Amino acid sequence: MSALEEASSLLKAGDVVAFPTETVYGLGANALDEAAVSKIFFAKGRPAHNPLIVHVADIAQARALTTDWTPEAEALARELWPGPLTLVLKKNGAVPGIVTAGGDTVAIRCPDHPVALALLRKCGFPLAAPSANRSNYISPTSAGHVLRSLNGRIPLILDGGPCMAGIESTVLSLVEMPATILRPGPIHAAMLQKYGIPVAAQGMRSAANNEKILTSPGQMLSHYAPDKPLILVQPEAAATIIAGLRATGKHVGLMQMTLELSIEESAEAKLSTQSDMARGITITTMPDTPELYARLLYATLYMLDAKKIDAIVCELPPDEPAWSGIKDRLRRAATRTE
Ligand code: TXA
Ligand code: MG
Repeated sequence: MSALEEASSLLKAGDVVAFPTETVYGLGANALDEAAVSKIFFAKGRPAHNPLIVHVADIAQARALTTDWTPEAEALARELWPGPLTLVLKKNGAVPGIVTAGGDTVAIRCPDHPVALALLRKCGFPLAAPSANRSNYISPTSAGHVLRSLNGRIPLILDGGPCMAGIESTVLSLVEMPATILRPGPIHAAMLQKYGIPVAAQGMRSAANNEKILTSPGQMLSHYAPDKPLILVQPEAAATIIAGLRATGKHVGLMQMTLELSIEESAEAKLSTQSDMARGITITTMPDTPELYARLLYATLYMLDAKKIDAIVCELPPDEPAWSGIKDRLRRAATRTE
C-alpha cells in the first residue's frame, strides 16, 4: 500500500494523519465526522474554543459547506486557490459544531500542495486540519518538526519535504463586507484589493482590539512560541540588548536581518561574527525578502530552541505590508501569557 493510500484509509476509518501543505504541516481528520475531529484536539492538547480550518480539494467542495458562497468568495477562490488564503463564511448543517467551536461560521481553504490535494481527492471528504504541532508550540514546516512535537500521539505523517510558504495562511472573513483580515499571512491586504475586494483595516493584536480577537476565537496573543524567550529588537538596538544578556552570562541566539554592506564593511561584519561566536552568541542571518524569510522562520526557531542558549534575540524586519504576516508571528512567539 502506498503512503497516500495508507493515509486515506486511516482518515476514512476516522483517524488522524499529518500531511504537508504549502504553509505548514496540518493534522487532518474527516471534517464531517465529529468523533474523528475530536482526535485532533486530543492529539494536540488544543482547547475546544479554538476552531479549525477545513481543507477542500476545490471550490465545489467549499461551496457545499456554506449557506452563502458569496461573489467575493467565488472571485478570490478562483484567483488565489489553491493557495494560502482561508475564507471565513457562514456554515451550513454539514459542518459539525466541533470544527467551528460552536460558531456559525466556517474557515475554508484549498491548499497548494500536490500531496495535500492528492490526499483530499483520495478521501473525497474535506479535512479539518490545524497546524500539526502540540498546542502553543511553533508550527511545523517539515515532517521532522511534526515528529518532534507529536511523536507517539498520531499514527502517520506524510512527508512532503519542507513547506514553501512557511507561515500559516491569511485568514479573511467574508461574513460581512468590507472583508476583515483575522490573521495576516502570505497574502496581504494589497494583494486582495487588487481583485476588487474591499478590506477593512486589520488589527487584532493590541489590547484595544480585544473585540476583534473574540471574533476569531483561536487568535490568542501567545501562540507559536518557542520554549526559549524570544526578544524582538530594532536592528540598531541589538548590540546593546545582547551586551546586557552577555553581561549576566547568558548565551544568545541572534536572528539577524541581512544588511546591505559594502565589501569592506561585510568583511568587518564577518570578523565580528567570528569573535561573537567565541563570546557565546549564535548568529543566524535571515533572508531579506518576506517570501524567503517566512520559509525559514519556523525552522530557525526550532533550530535555535534546540540549542544550548538562554534567549533568542530577533531583529525586527521592516515596517512594510509584505512583512505583516511575519511580524505577527514574531510578536506572538515573543508574547508571554504569564
Ligand atoms: O496555513 C494554515 O492555515 C494551516 C495549514 C495546516 O492549513 N492551518 C492552521 O490552522 O494554521 P490553525 O488551527 O493553527 O489556525 C486556524 C486559525 C485560528 O487562528 C482560528 O482562530 C482561525 O483559523 N479560525 C478557524 N475557524 C474560524 C472561524 N470560523 N472564524 C474565525 N477564525 C477561524
Ligand atoms: Mg496553529
